[in-house]
Amino acid sequence: MPPEMQLCVEKHVKYIQSLDTRKDELEYWLTEHLRLNGLYWGLTALHLLGHPEALPRAAVLEFVFSCLHQSGGFGAAPGHDAHMLYTVSGVQILATLDAFDDLEAHMEGGRLKIGQYIASLQNTETGTFAGDEWGEQDTRFLYGALNALSLMDLLFLVDLENAVSHVQSCANFDGAYGTSPGAESHSGQVFTCVGALTIAGRRDLVDEEKLGVWLSERQLKNGGLNGRPEKKEDVCYSWWVMSSLAMLDKLHWIDSEKLTSFILQCQDPELGGLADRPGDAVDVFHTIFGIAGLSLLKYPGLIEVDPV
Ligand code: FPP
Ligand code: ZN
Repeated sequence: MPPEMQLCVEKHVKYIQSLDTRKDELEYWLTEHLRLNGLYWGLTALHLLGHPEALPRAAVLEFVFSCLHQSGGFGAAPGHDAHMLYTVSGVQILATLDAFDDLEAHMEGGRLKIGQYIASLQNTETGTFAGDEWGEQDTRFLYGALNALSLMDLLFLVDLENAVSHVQSCANFDGAYGTSPGAESHSGQVFTCVGALTIAGRRDLVDEEKLGVWLSERQLKNGGLNGRPEKKEDVCYSWWVMSSLAMLDKLHWIDSEKLTSFILQCQDPELGGLADRPGDAVDVFHTIFGIAGLSLLKYPGLIEVDPV
Protein backbone atom coordinates (compact mmCIF):
# COMPACT_ATOMS: atom_id res chain seq x y z
CA MET A 1 0.00 0.00 0.00
CA PRO A 2 1.44 3.47 -0.88
CA PRO A 3 2.28 5.53 2.26
CA GLU A 4 -0.48 8.10 1.58
CA MET A 5 -3.05 5.28 1.74
CA GLN A 6 -1.83 4.00 5.14
CA LEU A 7 -3.86 4.50 8.28
CA CYS A 8 -1.42 5.44 11.10
CA VAL A 9 -2.94 3.03 13.62
CA GLU A 10 -0.23 3.23 16.31
CA LYS A 11 -0.21 7.05 16.19
CA HIS A 12 -3.98 7.24 16.57
CA VAL A 13 -3.89 4.87 19.55
CA LYS A 14 -1.22 7.05 21.21
CA TYR A 15 -3.18 10.23 20.41
CA ILE A 16 -6.31 8.86 22.10
CA GLN A 17 -4.35 7.63 25.11
CA SER A 18 -2.77 11.07 25.46
CA LEU A 19 -6.14 12.87 25.67
CA ASP A 20 -6.59 12.19 29.36
CA THR A 21 -3.03 12.93 30.36
CA ARG A 22 -2.84 16.46 28.97
CA LYS A 23 -4.61 17.95 31.98
CA ASP A 24 -2.23 20.89 32.12
CA GLU A 25 -3.41 22.11 28.71
CA LEU A 26 -6.13 24.71 28.38
CA GLU A 27 -7.95 22.66 25.75
CA TYR A 28 -8.58 19.89 28.28
CA TRP A 29 -10.52 22.27 30.52
CA LEU A 30 -12.28 23.99 27.64
CA THR A 31 -13.73 20.66 26.56
CA GLU A 32 -14.80 19.55 30.03
CA HIS A 33 -18.46 19.78 28.99
CA LEU A 34 -17.78 17.01 26.45
CA ARG A 35 -15.81 14.64 28.65
CA LEU A 36 -18.12 11.57 28.71
CA ASN A 37 -18.86 11.94 25.00
CA GLY A 38 -15.13 12.26 24.33
CA LEU A 39 -14.42 9.10 26.30
CA TYR A 40 -17.03 7.21 24.27
CA TRP A 41 -15.57 8.46 20.99
CA GLY A 42 -12.01 7.60 22.01
CA LEU A 43 -12.95 4.18 23.34
CA THR A 44 -14.93 3.33 20.20
CA ALA A 45 -12.04 4.41 17.99
CA LEU A 46 -9.68 2.14 19.96
CA HIS A 47 -12.08 -0.78 19.54
CA LEU A 48 -12.31 -0.21 15.77
CA LEU A 49 -8.51 0.08 15.57
CA GLY A 50 -8.23 -3.33 17.27
CA HIS A 51 -6.75 -1.94 20.53
CA PRO A 52 -9.63 -2.17 23.01
CA GLU A 53 -7.21 -2.62 25.91
CA ALA A 54 -5.46 0.72 25.34
CA LEU A 55 -7.70 2.42 27.93
CA PRO A 56 -7.91 0.45 31.20
CA ARG A 57 -11.45 -0.92 31.73
CA ALA A 58 -11.57 -0.33 35.51
CA ALA A 59 -10.52 3.32 35.23
CA VAL A 60 -13.02 3.95 32.42
CA LEU A 61 -15.85 2.45 34.49
CA GLU A 62 -14.84 4.41 37.57
CA PHE A 63 -15.08 7.65 35.59
CA VAL A 64 -18.39 6.65 33.97
CA PHE A 65 -19.96 5.84 37.35
CA SER A 66 -18.68 9.11 38.79
CA CYS A 67 -20.83 10.91 36.18
CA LEU A 68 -24.01 8.95 37.09
CA HIS A 69 -26.68 10.71 39.18
CA GLN A 70 -29.19 9.05 41.51
CA SER A 71 -31.87 10.04 38.96
CA GLY A 72 -30.36 7.61 36.43
CA GLY A 73 -29.00 10.40 34.21
CA PHE A 74 -25.33 10.99 33.41
CA GLY A 75 -23.55 14.34 33.34
CA ALA A 76 -20.57 15.21 31.13
CA ALA A 77 -18.15 15.00 34.08
CA PRO A 78 -18.47 14.59 37.86
CA GLY A 79 -20.65 17.37 39.28
CA HIS A 80 -22.20 18.31 35.93
CA ASP A 81 -26.00 18.20 35.43
CA ALA A 82 -27.54 15.13 33.81
CA HIS A 83 -28.39 15.36 30.09
CA MET A 84 -29.66 12.96 27.47
CA LEU A 85 -26.52 13.11 25.29
CA TYR A 86 -24.17 12.16 28.15
CA THR A 87 -26.58 9.49 29.34
CA VAL A 88 -26.49 7.93 25.87
CA SER A 89 -22.67 7.99 25.90
CA GLY A 90 -22.67 6.44 29.39
CA VAL A 91 -24.90 3.60 28.23
CA GLN A 92 -22.90 3.13 25.03
CA ILE A 93 -19.66 2.82 27.03
CA LEU A 94 -21.26 0.29 29.40
CA ALA A 95 -22.50 -1.72 26.40
CA THR A 96 -19.09 -1.56 24.71
CA LEU A 97 -17.38 -2.84 27.87
CA ASP A 98 -20.12 -5.42 28.56
CA ALA A 99 -20.50 -3.75 31.95
CA PHE A 100 -24.22 -3.85 32.80
CA ASP A 101 -23.41 -6.25 35.68
CA ASP A 102 -20.81 -3.78 36.97
CA LEU A 103 -23.56 -1.14 36.80
CA GLU A 104 -25.89 -3.22 38.98
CA ALA A 105 -23.04 -3.72 41.48
CA HIS A 106 -22.48 0.05 41.56
CA MET A 107 -26.19 1.02 41.71
CA GLU A 108 -28.91 -1.51 42.44
CA GLY A 109 -31.58 -1.40 39.71
CA GLY A 110 -29.29 0.96 37.77
CA ARG A 111 -30.24 -0.22 34.29
CA LEU A 112 -33.94 0.38 34.91
CA LYS A 113 -33.24 3.73 36.60
CA ILE A 114 -31.30 4.92 33.56
CA GLY A 115 -34.11 3.71 31.29
CA GLN A 116 -36.68 5.57 33.38
CA TYR A 117 -34.59 8.77 33.29
CA ILE A 118 -34.48 8.57 29.48
CA ALA A 119 -38.20 7.76 29.24
CA SER A 120 -39.03 10.73 31.49
CA LEU A 121 -37.64 13.04 28.80
CA GLN A 122 -40.26 11.97 26.25
CA ASN A 123 -43.30 14.10 25.57
CA THR A 124 -45.68 11.21 25.03
CA GLU A 125 -48.21 13.44 23.25
CA THR A 126 -45.82 14.50 20.48
CA GLY A 127 -43.39 11.56 20.69
CA THR A 128 -40.42 13.96 20.88
CA PHE A 129 -37.58 13.88 23.42
CA ALA A 130 -35.95 16.73 25.31
CA GLY A 131 -32.24 16.81 26.17
CA ASP A 132 -32.89 17.63 29.82
CA GLU A 133 -35.58 18.90 32.12
CA TRP A 134 -35.33 22.37 30.53
CA GLY A 135 -36.95 21.09 27.42
CA GLU A 136 -35.14 21.83 24.11
CA GLN A 137 -36.25 19.15 21.61
CA ASP A 138 -34.34 17.71 18.69
CA THR A 139 -34.25 14.45 16.72
CA ARG A 140 -30.72 13.91 18.14
CA PHE A 141 -32.30 13.27 21.53
CA LEU A 142 -34.97 11.00 20.07
CA TYR A 143 -32.35 8.87 18.28
CA GLY A 144 -30.10 8.82 21.36
CA ALA A 145 -33.00 7.71 23.56
CA LEU A 146 -33.95 4.83 21.26
CA ASN A 147 -30.32 3.81 20.83
CA ALA A 148 -29.61 3.65 24.58
CA LEU A 149 -32.93 1.99 25.42
CA SER A 150 -32.41 -0.66 22.75
CA LEU A 151 -28.91 -1.39 24.13
CA MET A 152 -30.55 -1.98 27.53
CA ASP A 153 -33.58 -3.91 26.15
CA LEU A 154 -35.89 -1.24 27.57
CA LEU A 155 -37.59 0.17 24.48
CA PHE A 156 -40.98 -0.74 25.96
CA LEU A 157 -40.61 2.15 28.43
CA VAL A 158 -41.44 4.74 25.72
CA ASP A 159 -44.19 5.47 23.20
CA LEU A 160 -42.47 4.17 20.09
CA GLU A 161 -45.39 4.78 17.76
CA ASN A 162 -45.53 8.50 18.54
CA ALA A 163 -41.75 8.76 18.29
CA VAL A 164 -41.93 7.21 14.81
CA SER A 165 -44.70 9.63 13.73
CA HIS A 166 -42.59 12.56 14.89
CA VAL A 167 -39.59 11.35 12.86
CA GLN A 168 -41.84 10.99 9.85
CA SER A 169 -43.02 14.58 10.28
CA CYS A 170 -39.37 15.74 9.95
CA ALA A 171 -39.07 14.25 6.42
CA ASN A 172 -38.70 16.74 3.54
CA PHE A 173 -39.67 16.61 -0.13
CA ASP A 174 -36.07 15.65 -1.05
CA GLY A 175 -36.34 12.41 0.95
CA ALA A 176 -33.98 13.71 3.68
CA TYR A 177 -34.72 14.96 7.21
CA GLY A 178 -34.34 18.13 9.27
CA THR A 179 -34.12 18.75 13.00
CA SER A 180 -37.88 19.46 13.31
CA PRO A 181 -40.87 19.59 10.92
CA GLY A 182 -40.10 21.93 8.01
CA ALA A 183 -36.42 22.40 8.95
CA GLU A 184 -33.69 22.19 6.28
CA SER A 185 -32.40 18.72 5.41
CA HIS A 186 -29.04 17.94 7.01
CA SER A 187 -27.19 14.62 6.91
CA GLY A 188 -26.61 14.63 10.67
CA GLN A 189 -30.38 14.66 11.11
CA VAL A 190 -30.74 12.04 8.38
CA PHE A 191 -28.53 9.76 10.47
CA THR A 192 -30.65 10.33 13.60
CA CYS A 193 -33.97 9.85 11.79
CA VAL A 194 -33.00 6.80 9.73
CA GLY A 195 -31.26 5.36 12.82
CA ALA A 196 -34.37 5.89 14.96
CA LEU A 197 -36.63 4.31 12.31
CA THR A 198 -34.20 1.38 11.96
CA ILE A 199 -34.21 0.75 15.73
CA ALA A 200 -38.01 1.04 15.76
CA GLY A 201 -38.25 -1.50 12.92
CA ARG A 202 -39.92 1.07 10.60
CA ARG A 203 -37.35 1.65 7.85
CA ASP A 204 -40.20 0.98 5.42
CA LEU A 205 -41.21 4.63 6.06
CA VAL A 206 -38.00 5.94 4.45
CA ASP A 207 -38.13 7.03 0.79
CA GLU A 208 -35.01 4.96 0.14
CA GLU A 209 -34.45 5.87 -3.51
CA LYS A 210 -34.86 9.63 -3.07
CA LEU A 211 -32.81 9.69 0.12
CA GLY A 212 -30.11 7.49 -1.45
CA VAL A 213 -29.76 10.00 -4.28
CA TRP A 214 -29.63 12.97 -1.86
CA LEU A 215 -26.98 11.23 0.26
CA SER A 216 -24.83 10.26 -2.72
CA GLU A 217 -24.92 13.88 -3.92
CA ARG A 218 -23.04 14.79 -0.73
CA GLN A 219 -19.76 13.62 -2.29
CA LEU A 220 -17.61 16.44 -3.69
CA LYS A 221 -14.89 16.35 -6.35
CA ASN A 222 -12.14 16.00 -3.72
CA GLY A 223 -13.79 12.79 -2.50
CA GLY A 224 -15.02 14.22 0.84
CA LEU A 225 -18.67 14.47 1.85
CA ASN A 226 -20.62 17.56 2.93
CA GLY A 227 -23.59 17.70 5.30
CA ARG A 228 -25.97 19.53 2.95
CA PRO A 229 -25.92 21.22 -0.47
CA GLU A 230 -23.48 24.11 -1.03
CA LYS A 231 -21.44 23.33 2.11
CA LYS A 232 -17.81 22.30 2.52
CA GLU A 233 -16.63 18.72 2.96
CA ASP A 234 -15.94 17.50 6.50
CA VAL A 235 -14.60 14.14 7.62
CA CYS A 236 -17.36 13.58 10.20
CA TYR A 237 -19.90 13.22 7.38
CA SER A 238 -18.01 10.06 6.44
CA TRP A 239 -20.01 8.67 9.34
CA TRP A 240 -23.34 10.55 9.25
CA VAL A 241 -23.76 10.06 5.48
CA MET A 242 -22.14 6.64 5.11
CA SER A 243 -23.91 5.01 8.05
CA SER A 244 -27.21 6.29 6.62
CA LEU A 245 -26.31 4.78 3.23
CA ALA A 246 -25.30 1.55 4.99
CA MET A 247 -28.70 1.34 6.70
CA LEU A 248 -30.28 1.70 3.22
CA ASP A 249 -27.87 -0.89 1.79
CA LYS A 250 -26.51 1.68 -0.67
CA LEU A 251 -22.88 2.13 0.38
CA HIS A 252 -21.86 1.50 -3.22
CA TRP A 253 -23.63 4.74 -4.26
CA ILE A 254 -20.52 6.76 -3.39
CA ASP A 255 -16.95 6.48 -4.73
CA SER A 256 -15.31 4.64 -1.86
CA GLU A 257 -11.76 4.94 -3.14
CA LYS A 258 -11.97 8.73 -3.33
CA LEU A 259 -13.59 8.98 0.11
CA THR A 260 -10.98 6.65 1.65
CA SER A 261 -8.23 8.81 0.24
CA PHE A 262 -9.90 12.02 1.54
CA ILE A 263 -10.25 10.58 5.06
CA LEU A 264 -6.61 9.44 5.12
CA GLN A 265 -5.48 12.95 4.11
CA CYS A 266 -7.16 14.28 7.27
CA GLN A 267 -4.73 12.33 9.50
CA ASP A 268 -1.92 13.90 11.45
CA PRO A 269 0.75 11.34 10.53
CA GLU A 270 3.14 12.62 13.22
CA LEU A 271 1.04 13.04 16.35
CA GLY A 272 -2.03 11.01 15.40
CA GLY A 273 -5.71 11.97 15.26
CA LEU A 274 -7.88 13.16 12.38
CA ALA A 275 -9.12 16.68 11.56
CA ASP A 276 -12.32 17.86 9.81
CA ARG A 277 -10.30 18.45 6.62
CA PRO A 278 -6.66 18.15 5.52
CA GLY A 279 -4.29 20.47 7.40
CA ASP A 280 -6.69 21.46 10.22
CA ALA A 281 -6.15 20.66 13.91
CA VAL A 282 -7.16 17.15 14.99
CA ASP A 283 -9.79 16.35 17.63
CA VAL A 284 -11.31 13.15 19.03
CA PHE A 285 -14.72 13.78 17.39
CA HIS A 286 -13.29 13.81 13.85
CA THR A 287 -10.91 10.99 14.79
CA ILE A 288 -13.71 8.57 15.65
CA PHE A 289 -16.05 9.54 12.81
CA GLY A 290 -13.24 9.35 10.23
CA ILE A 291 -12.15 5.93 11.48
CA ALA A 292 -15.76 4.71 11.67
CA GLY A 293 -16.20 5.88 8.06
CA LEU A 294 -13.11 3.90 7.04
CA SER A 295 -14.54 0.88 8.85
CA LEU A 296 -17.77 1.13 6.81
CA LEU A 297 -15.55 1.38 3.72
CA LYS A 298 -13.95 -1.91 4.84
CA TYR A 299 -10.48 -0.42 5.21
CA PRO A 300 -8.15 -3.41 5.79
CA GLY A 301 -7.42 -4.30 9.41
CA LEU A 302 -10.27 -2.30 11.00
CA ILE A 303 -13.03 -3.95 13.04
CA GLU A 304 -16.36 -3.66 11.21
CA VAL A 305 -18.74 -1.19 12.78
CA ASP A 306 -22.53 -1.50 13.12
CA PRO A 307 -24.14 1.43 11.22
CA VAL A 308 -26.89 2.09 13.82
C1 FPP B 1 -22.60 20.78 11.98
O1 FPP B 1 -23.62 21.52 11.41
C2 FPP B 1 -23.17 19.62 12.66
C3 FPP B 1 -22.46 18.49 12.75
C4 FPP B 1 -21.12 18.38 12.16
C5 FPP B 1 -23.02 17.32 13.48
C6 FPP B 1 -24.05 16.60 12.69
C7 FPP B 1 -24.53 15.40 13.38
C8 FPP B 1 -25.73 15.28 13.98
C9 FPP B 1 -26.75 16.38 14.03
C10 FPP B 1 -26.07 13.96 14.57
C11 FPP B 1 -25.69 13.93 16.00
C12 FPP B 1 -26.19 12.71 16.62
C13 FPP B 1 -26.15 12.44 17.94
C14 FPP B 1 -26.78 11.22 18.45
C15 FPP B 1 -25.49 13.35 18.91
P1 FPP B 1 -23.18 22.89 10.68
O2 FPP B 1 -24.40 23.54 10.19
O3 FPP B 1 -22.29 23.67 11.58
O4 FPP B 1 -22.23 22.32 9.57
P2 FPP B 1 -22.28 22.32 7.99
O5 FPP B 1 -21.77 23.64 7.57
O6 FPP B 1 -21.34 21.21 7.62
O7 FPP B 1 -23.70 22.05 7.56
ZN1 ZN C 1 -17.27 17.78 11.42
